[in-house]
Order: sequence, then C-alpha cells, then structure tokens
Amino acid sequence: MTPQAFKQLMRMHPAAVNIIATGKAPHRTGMTVSAFMSLGVEPPTVVCAINRNAFSYAHMVDNQVFSVNTLAVEHIEMAKLFAGQAPLSGDERFDAQQWGQFDSGSPCLQDAVMSLECRLIRQVQESTHSLMVGEVISGRYNDAAMPLLYRDGQWLTISDDLLMVPVGR
Ligand SMILES: Cc1cc2nc3c(=O)[nH]c(=O)nc-3n(C[C@H](O)[C@H](O)[C@H](O)COP(=O)(O)O)c2cc1C
Repeated sequence: MTPQAFKQLMRMHPAAVNIIATGKAPHRTGMTVSAFMSLGVEPPTVVCAINRNAFSYAHMVDNQVFSVNTLAVEHIEMAKLFAGQAPLSGDERFDAQQWGQFDSGSPCLQDAVMSLECRLIRQVQESTHSLMVGEVISGRYNDAAMPLLYRDGQWLTISDDLLMVPVGR
C-alpha cells in the first residue's frame, strides 16, 4: 500500500484529541496527540505514539514523567496551538488560568475531560515514532466536559443523542 493510500484510510479513523505535556515552568512543553490509548489495568498503563522529531519527545525522555490531557470541545484553539499551528511556542503556550501541575510537576489542564499523571516506564521505537508507555500515577476528570474529536481534517464532538441509546450487554 502506498503512504498516500494509508494516510487516506487513517484520516477516516475518528480519534479523541489530547495534549501530552511535560516539564515544570518555565520549561514546560507539550504537543497535540491523537495516538493515545489505555494499555493495561494492573499496573495501570497507557501508551501514546510520538514522532521522535517532535520537540516534546526528548523532553519526555529527559523528564521521565508526562501528563495526558484529553481535550474538551472548547479547546480547539489549544489543540491547534500545541500542534504547531500558531505563532507561540514552548512554555508561553501554557495559560496560567488553565494549567496547574501534578505532584510530579507535569502540567495539568484544569478543565480537561480527563488528565493523567504518568511515569515513563518503557519506550518502543518503530520507524519515525516511539510508543511511549506510561504508568499512571494519578488522574482527574470532568464528566460534564464534551470531548473534542478529530476526523478527516475536521474537529468534531460526540452527540448526546447517541449516548441515549441503551448498550446491550
Ligand atoms: C489532531 C492532531 C493529532 C496529532 N496526533 C499526533 C500523534 O498522535 N503523534 C505525534 O507525534 N504527532 C501528532 N500530531 C502532530 C503534533 O501535534 C505536531 O507535530 C506538533 O507540532 C509537535 O510539537 P513539538 O514539535 O513542538 O513538540 C497531531 C496533530 C494534530 C493536529
């Protein structure tokens, strides 16, 4: 399969949008990441796929801790900001009103759908990207927040209507 055909297929894959962040002020950095999922429960682990050319990658490795902040629908501009689509860079992207920090020092987005504090326990390199495996130390969530999704170059959210359909068990 050509890279173009593969990209077109992956554009159809809907994904939640997260900011993976690391470092303490004034050395915080972060990036918009959709390649994130939970991995195992005992111990609680997650994994995200990070391009090793990304500025944040080396900082995640240096710090050995990072946070995962799942964005709400009102965070579209923040998603663009942390995807390099705005003139700001580095620590200046962290608004003091919106960002706090976990005990380990990683940035925590106050009104995220969900935020996790993670310790980097393993890294698996594959072509341009690394799978960064994090053990989850702590977390918080806002159940009223509507998640931001990305698909085919568009920002989306979920419909409450769909959630009203009973799930068969
Ligand atoms: C919706 C969306 C999802 C993205 N997902 C990923 C991802 O999963 N992994 C990745 O390495 N880059 C991903 N990117 C690209 C990075 O956000 C982008 O390259 C960023 O500028 C890297 O930041 P840095 O080099 O300043 O650390 C995504 C971008 C967007 C807009």
